[in-house]
Amino acid sequence: MAKFNYSYKVCECKNVTLGEIIHAIKEKNAKTVEDVKDITDAGTACGCCINATKDFGDPKMQLYIEDILKKFT
Ligand code: FES
Repeated sequence: MAKFNYSYKVCECKNVTLGEIIHAIKEKNAKTVEDVKDITDAGTACGCCINATKDFGDPKMQLYIEDILKKFT
């Protein structure tokens, strides 16, 4: 994940960056995808940014909310 900037857009639909999601985890105690959705709005539209299984896009996204949660919680 080191190759991603804080400004990297994880959720295209809602325009939510990696930095915002990390902030939700570290400062606002987000522990689940639902928490991240509630706090940041990421993942609340198409859902492709949640995990690879939910990603119906082509090309696939490079970074998912679940990966970020695994890394920071
Ligand atoms: S990319 Fe996050 S909800 Fe669509």
